Amino acid sequence: MGVLMALLLINSSGVALAEAQRAGTPWTVGNDPTFPPFEYRDPSTNAITGFDVELIEAIGRQAGHPIQLLALPFDGIIPALQSRSIDAAISSITITADRARAIDFSRPYFEAGEAIVVRDGAPDFTSLDQLKGRRIAVQIGTTGAIAASKVPDAQVSNFDSTPLALQELVNGNADAVISDVPAILYAMRQANLHGLHLSGEHLSTEYYGIALPVNSPLQAPINRALGKLISSGRYAALYRKWFGADPPVLPAVAPALLNKVSPMAGLDLALLAQNLVKGAGITLLLTVLSFSFGLFGGTGLAMLLQAPWPLAQRLCRVYIDFFRGTPMLVQLFLIYFGLPALIQSLDIAFTIERLPAAVTALSLNVAAYLAEVLRSGIESIDRGQWEAADALGFSPLERMRFVIAPQAIRRVLPPLANEFITLIKDTSLAAVIGFDELFRQGQLMVATTYRAFEIYIAVALVYLVMTTSASLLFKRLERKLSLPA
Ligand code: ARG
Repeated sequence: MGVLMALLLINSSGVALAEAQRAGTPWTVGNDPTFPPFEYRDPSTNAITGFDVELIEAIGRQAGHPIQLLALPFDGIIPALQSRSIDAAISSITITADRARAIDFSRPYFEAGEAIVVRDGAPDFTSLDQLKGRRIAVQIGTTGAIAASKVPDAQVSNFDSTPLALQELVNGNADAVISDVPAILYAMRQANLHGLHLSGEHLSTEYYGIALPVNSPLQAPINRALGKLISSGRYAALYRKWFGADPPVLPAVAPALLNKVSPMAGLDLALLAQNLVKGAGITLLLTVLSFSFGLFGGTGLAMLLQAPWPLAQRLCRVYIDFFRGTPMLVQLFLIYFGLPALIQSLDIAFTIERLPAAVTALSLNVAAYLAEVLRSGIESIDRGQWEAADALGFSPLERMRFVIAPQAIRRVLPPLANEFITLIKDTSLAAVIGFDELFRQGQLMVATTYRAFEIYIAVALVYLVMTTSASLLFKRLERKLSLPA
């Protein structure tokens, strides 16, 4: 059965490939459009544009194929090529020997290099060595991230896009960003990123190539079309339009590929296990801290909802509606990136570390959900119990403490377990603020080994172990609290 499926898949991708070659069929080209001036959304037209986009469209015209762009996260591009869900990718992708083990490249179409960016007034670093022990922000899966990972003792935070890494630097949570020179220059000129400058420039010379699945039939037509654009001067015109200078002469083959590329090494299982365990530790820490604070806040909210103060009740409702009604992802971005930028714009020095930021966002959110769970638990206790407590002369607080709460806790345990398990999984959202929790650890390994399936299955299994253990623990607690029959 499995073999049959595999054969079907191979066969259908073969058909798709032959199709992609037929004149006039569109080519699906992936890119991560957060990298101006190469690929980005133009704010005035709201369309995806950039040097890469116009180049691939010119190549498509030359080869007789319309281009269909597909936006992907940068670290998802190589896996998408491996699974042949896209025909090609143009995303300022540096041609490296490591990547050439997993995918193929066109001939080089752009010469770039890496640089270090720092805040004005902060220490300058002119070489990677000087970044030793510093905090470096990078975009996940990029050559900048690879360079940063080799700096001894550096604390590297990986973000989903280069603008987010630069924002981290602006906000004062990183000492440097490593990225591509043309993109940095453009970001500093165009975007709302003030107070940054290039420090170490051209740490490396890199060439961008159009990325293709291994043995893609598109390689020859793309190279032909690119060659034609270069020899006819249309490439130079495009280059001048975007960079205001004449293009350098490009090599026919990227220097990185001149030595024979050895085949991909096997997945290092010990390293995978070690990284996933590290990630699981952070996931657990985030879950336990946020759940504890959330439970505390949720209890407070549930009490206030019971109290005879209409204004307090109304405020609690607004709080719950806001945190239940907006995505946790948005709340994380708001607290981690938005709040410091806002406060700093008022000329007040303010930074927030990622642990407090993540725990704050998660706790605020959990508190809103738990408030409702606890409230329904409290309200489910029979009126007679309340009246009995009153008849015994208990104060409202004593009534809650000795009569209502002990019974309500038993009832709300199952929904509390639900919230806890949901939270274990939701902590993966903290990856967006550069947290190397369980999911991000998997992503980081995929970004260097390109073994998406095996690694994400392993990540899923670790989550499953964590959620199953949590549910067993809650079951035990429930049994312990249940009334003796
Ligand atoms: N050139 C670098 C690399 O290949 C960064 C590319 C980032 N591109 C993007 N569209 N975000 O790793």
